[in-house]
Amino acid sequence: MMELERLICSDKATIRDVMMCIDRNAEGTAFITDDTGSLVGVITDGDIRRLLISGYGLQDSVETHISSDFVYARKGDDSTDIINKFSERIRIIPIVDENRRVVDYVGYDENVHIPLAQPQLNGNEYKYLMDAFFSTWISSTGEYITRFEESFSNYCGAQYGVATSNGTTALHLALTALGIGPGDEVIVPDITFAATINAVIYTGATPVIVDIEENSWCIDPIEIEKAITPRTKAIIPVHVYGQPCDMGEICRIAEKNKLYIVEDCAEAHGAEWNHRKVGSFGVISCFSFFGNKVITTGEGGMCITDSEKLNSKMRILRDHGMSRERKYYHEVIGFNYRMTNMQAAIGTAQVERIDKILEWRTKLEEQYRETFGGIEGVILQNNNLPGRKKIAWLVSVLVNEDKRDIILAKLKENDVDVRAFFIPLSEMDIYRKYALNCRVSRKISRMGINLPTAYEVNGESIERIRNMICSVL
Ligand SMILES: Cc1ncc(COP(=O)(O)O)c(C=O)c1O
Repeated sequence: MMELERLICSDKATIRDVMMCIDRNAEGTAFITDDTGSLVGVITDGDIRRLLISGYGLQDSVETHISSDFVYARKGDDSTDIINKFSERIRIIPIVDENRRVVDYVGYDENVHIPLAQPQLNGNEYKYLMDAFFSTWISSTGEYITRFEESFSNYCGAQYGVATSNGTTALHLALTALGIGPGDEVIVPDITFAATINAVIYTGATPVIVDIEENSWCIDPIEIEKAITPRTKAIIPVHVYGQPCDMGEICRIAEKNKLYIVEDCAEAHGAEWNHRKVGSFGVISCFSFFGNKVITTGEGGMCITDSEKLNSKMRILRDHGMSRERKYYHEVIGFNYRMTNMQAAIGTAQVERIDKILEWRTKLEEQYRETFGGIEGVILQNNNLPGRKKIAWLVSVLVNEDKRDIILAKLKENDVDVRAFFIPLSEMDIYRKYALNCRVSRKISRMGINLPTAYEVNGESIERIRNMICSVL
């Protein structure tokens, strides 16, 4: 990496000096400092060109041409805020200390890799993690477990939280606690991650796969109703890609048919249906805190519930089925589905900032909407369905089925991480036998793309992604 000094020039320098500085650093930019070393301006090769065209000579001083209107960042600024300062014109940003002395800089690389997702760990995550580490409570006992369970369940509007080793174990724990097993049927949507259906299969129950709604991509309540048999015990609505399911209808159907709702909220932390957060509708609701989720603990999950009885049952099942009163006396055949105190420490810090993280995600999705607006052949995920407040998990679009894979290849070729939508469960050999007629899911799945929704994405990269998509379309 180039040394910082090669970018710095005195405000007493001549136009020629600044040109030589820019020539040496090959960054097209010089940071101009005064006698005390404080940053007073930035001059680019474009500025120099304009000065020469206006008739100034190489020996003229730059001092009177330094604009006070320049972009810089302060040491300790949030990296997202810094990234957002980049634009077509601003490619390099000086970072100054409290005395305005340049201590570092960040440059924008046009060909930089754009990740699909990235955890935001710049709050108290490191501090709490170290605290848990030095406390030596690094397994599944410790104050952060309780703090995380309480703060996250409270955030979702539920009474109890039971932290688990991941989202899949959360789903399995929930279904087991509800007594679901062989002979029972559980309704799941065709578009979801495999963990949803696998958790049902682990219990010995039979999954029943139903179609999705065309406008929301979530499980279709009409299809749920058609799939109910005397053996149906539960429905797992999955709030896919941040979009809440139609919980009004699903709750009505569940109540009428005396079915449990186990919400799969892995992709929709903080989303709302009718001003109520997802996770507050299910008798038990499950979350994942995998690294690409809205908030993360690395690996991790949680079941939330309002039922004291289910809370207690899940705690016993999570810990090998061991009695809570009598150590090493096992009441049921349980599992080791515990989360560690270190993971919970990260989670506790993440919950502190969840609203901020969601706000940033929403803004990013808005930027995508603005930049993609009007491109014929690209449909952004619906954010305007009555009663539903989606969150931006992975910004998702539909394109023509014939073009989808070409677009994916083009973006990947250019180092942009993208994902095709989930393959419908009904199209996979191991699950096909559980599926009812699923038409919409197959169509949507072949059109869908998840776009980068990471810290490093900014206006520039969205523009880049747009241009690549347009070049294919
Ligand atoms: C809809 C859905 N359900 C369940 C899971 C499983 O979560 P985990 O990966 O934490 O086991 C995921 C996560 O990837 C998911 O997207």
